[in-house]
Amino acid sequence: MKEWQLGSGVVLRSATLADVPSLLAICLQTADSGKDASNLHNLPDLVGEIYAAPYAIYEPDFAFVLVANDRQVGYVLGALDTSKFEAVLEVKYWPRTKAKYESISTELLAHDVELLGELDKQGSSDPAIISKYPSHLHIDIIESHQGVGYGKAMIEHLLNELRIAGSRGVHLHMAATNDRALNFYTKFGFTEIHSDENEKILALTF
Ligand SMILES: CC(C)(COP(=O)(O)OP(=O)(O)OC[C@H]1O[C@@H](n2cnc3c(N)ncnc32)[C@H](O)[C@@H]1OP(=O)(O)O)[C@@H](O)C(=O)NCCC(=O)NCCS
Repeated sequence: MKEWQLGSGVVLRSATLADVPSLLAICLQTADSGKDASNLHNLPDLVGEIYAAPYAIYEPDFAFVLVANDRQVGYVLGALDTSKFEAVLEVKYWPRTKAKYESISTELLAHDVELLGELDKQGSSDPAIISKYPSHLHIDIIESHQGVGYGKAMIEHLLNELRIAGSRGVHLHMAATNDRALNFYTKFGFTEIHSDENEKILALTF
């Protein structure tokens, strides 16, 4: 397996299916505009099942996990061709994920209800965006490992992989309130192409 040393005992390596439970946990721990959202959800896996797991399963060439002292503490996940990726998920992934949540008896919190709505909406991205920026990405690092340069190394790594694979451009969705992430992405040349009260879409042309 390919891996890249980022620090003492810290590596970025290709994600495998065995990493999926860790990806779900990291996604939940960073889902409240970058902060831990564990106490906002009674369906703890759902956020990662929407925004993290599909990449390790269906786009492993662009899925990387940050491991510090043998513990997964972050990830950077991309899809080279969003349109193709979404077509695969439409057939292979969303039906079984939706089926899993169809008859749950868990008491739902407001954020669970919101996410179930998101799950229902998963499908095709805006063609105007993906024609110009065909790739997209997600990056999350748990709080204890933020702010020491891993995010920079991780996003540069993924952007480079996407560029080498021939991508023309990349976009991402972020919570409108996540100022820290906005500052971070701006450093790598991302600019805002859409903004509303809930989210921003940023993009970068290669
Ligand atoms: C956003 C995130 C990926 C950034 O990774 P990181 O490892 O914390 O960032 P780094 O330490 O690599 O910093 C990279 C650069 O961004 C800058 N940066 C980081 N946090 C910043 C902040 N709050 N304000 C301004 N600049 C910031 C750093 O100064 C650094 O710039 P430099 O190279 O010029 O010094 C990480 O903090 C994170 O996962 N946060 C929680 C989840 C999240 O919000 N994900 C994005 C969802 S859209």
